Amino acid sequence: MEQADVVILGGGAAGLFCAGEAAARGLKVVVLEHAARAGEKIRISGGGRCNFTNLATARDRFLSENPRFCASALAGFAARDFVDMVDRAGIAWHEKTMGQLFCDGKATQIIDMLLQRMGEADLRLRTAVTGVSRGQAGFVVDSSAGQIAARQVVVATGGKSIPKMGATGIAYDIAAQFGLRVVETRPGLVPLTFAEQDLDLCRPLAGIAVDAEIAHGGGRFRDALLFTHRGLSGPVILQISSYWQPGDDLVIDLAPGVDMTARLKEWRGQGGRVAVATVLARDLPERLAHALAAEVGLADARLADQNNKTLDRLGARVNRWRLRPVGSEGYRTAEVTLGGIDTRDLDARTMQARDVPGLFFIGECVDVTGWLGGYNFQWAWASAYAAGRAF
Ligand code: FDA
Repeated sequence: MEQADVVILGGGAAGLFCAGEAAARGLKVVVLEHAARAGEKIRISGGGRCNFTNLATARDRFLSENPRFCASALAGFAARDFVDMVDRAGIAWHEKTMGQLFCDGKATQIIDMLLQRMGEADLRLRTAVTGVSRGQAGFVVDSSAGQIAARQVVVATGGKSIPKMGATGIAYDIAAQFGLRVVETRPGLVPLTFAEQDLDLCRPLAGIAVDAEIAHGGGRFRDALLFTHRGLSGPVILQISSYWQPGDDLVIDLAPGVDMTARLKEWRGQGGRVAVATVLARDLPERLAHALAAEVGLADARLADQNNKTLDRLGARVNRWRLRPVGSEGYRTAEVTLGGIDTRDLDARTMQARDVPGLFFIGECVDVTGWLGGYNFQWAWASAYAAGRAF
């Protein structure tokens, strides 16, 4: 049977990075990837420009049953370390907002850099992993191209998001087979879906973006909210989706930093001959201002004619819009998978299974999920680096 020092399952962000680390140690490394190309999610990420890290990386930007678990790996390989690597490869980049770093050119530059770093490591495409078992030398990996014996196996097959791109749940099956616990998985960074009565407001406003704030379940985000034909989307919705559970209400502030009730009353006090919608439009896109005024029955109403109760209601509608998503678009469009390999069963410094020496889990399959904004790739690099150092 063919022998290798390290077999890495999955040629995505974490697997390719880890292969580079292992190859640099002079080990015989084989990477098995069932797709026709490696790093497909890198290629489409960040709108084709790959948001490859975030300068604000810190453990509080990650969700996990054990929020402290990721700290060691993130400290061992920081965002700056990846930036240095990108600089050495001569890849131009820019900061968009909030520490998010993107390639100036194409995301494929990052893939090329990772492939080059892999040196002698053997990347086998169109090769599906079907199972892992214990063998004399450590492990035996079964694949569509036969068996390989290895001292160390790294599971880097990602989560369940976007099955059309090759995502499988095999990491969780391998973990369970070796006695590791798996935290229940669910889609994260995913558009939410809404009931028909909410769509009545959203659909005519499709295309409008507004700065909004949502706090929920321990997360608080202020970013763009996008009205679409399917409801609400945009970064603020994707971010909060990771904290949202079915059945929860969301409360959205459509004018963060503005007390709309106070503002309406202040303007009324100054004469108030102006239309209600005109005052709202000082802080909201005009079409949205008119739609909200119409919704509370004040389509053409003058501010001067409104009593406190009406203005309280309208102000609350702007600053505390309560609605209940009916679901999410699921793994079909989710950028990440929440949950995964239970960190209690992994060593935080090496990503090695505590009770199965030689078996490692890295990247998205682990119960560590970042916010939107480059954090998930930084976790892929950092966890891969931690494992690579331990070979
Ligand atoms: P990843 O999914 O990258 O790799 C796993 C690999 O294993 C895949 O290549 C898969 O084909 C392979 N595989 C699975 N089962 C197999 C089997 N049985 N046999 C062989 N191979 C198998 N993050 C970020 O930080 N910045 C960003 O800009 C974006 N943008 C973005 C856009 C979109 C559309 C998505 C879907 C996701 C993002 N992300 C992101 C998230 C990011 O892509 C994700 O967190 C990382 O790719 C995770 O890296 P992994 O290597 O763990 O999994």
